[in-house]
Amino acid sequence: MPELSPEEIARANRKGAARKFFADPWIFIRGVPSMKFLPPIGPDEVAFAGRSNVGKSSLINALTAKKGLARTSNTPGRTQELNFFVQDGEYENDLPPLALVDMPGYGFAKAPKSVVDAWTELIFSYLQGRSTLRRVYVLIDSRHGLKKNDEEVLDLLDKAAVSYQLVLTKADKIKPPALVKLEAATLKAIEKRPAAFPEIVSTSSEKNWGVDDLKAAILFAIGRG
Ligand code: GTP
Ligand code: MG
Repeated sequence: MPELSPEEIARANRKGAARKFFADPWIFIRGVPSMKFLPPIGPDEVAFAGRSNVGKSSLINALTAKKGLARTSNTPGRTQELNFFVQDGEYENDLPPLALVDMPGYGFAKAPKSVVDAWTELIFSYLQGRSTLRRVYVLIDSRHGLKKNDEEVLDLLDKAAVSYQLVLTKADKIKPPALVKLEAATLKAIEKRPAAFPEIVSTSSEKNWGVDDLKAAILFAIGRG
């Protein structure tokens, strides 16, 4: 067996700790159709944003190891509210340490304009104005890369100084060399963005690739990793 470097050992330890942290069972607590229904300020939150059908809900299911926790579908526009998930454990003051927030997708052209406007308003208000939102994971489909509407969301997050990290999804759908190229090009594209975390996580919810890395990144983002 090849010897591991100290960095590799530290990374493996962080992933192991993150796996353990995520292992408590996750439950759905609330669907929020508009800002006035947001849960009271409580745990740290991390949110999953991205174009319709990019794989936000699937990634939450992969992180929580619970198929069907977040509803997924081949039809864009499946998630229509901000859906909050927390762990069901014994916590100090009954306060779970982390909430995962599944968001409606943006860029879904086929929905009626009034619906798209309502979602856009909800997504933008939540992303700009939630004090417990620690990091936004902006998901990008490996087959498509960054699109104009992704850039608009990144502009908003930069302006509001909300920390975010890009996550490539559906990595099983492209060849490894193409993925490496896309990672480099995407990092280059965000290099001047002030609120962007300068690393990318590539994932496949289908194959469970990158899921432990993402868990470790999330723990780091909430100051526990
Ligand atoms: P909306 O809620 O409509 O915005 O979509 P979403 O971003 O939540 O996407 P969802 O998780 O519902 O996934 C959309 C489709 O992509 C589903 O058919 C998933 O099975 C598929 N999908 C998600 N992740 C992966 C992946 O890693 N690999 C592959 N091959 N398919 C995936
Ligand atoms: Mg969804």
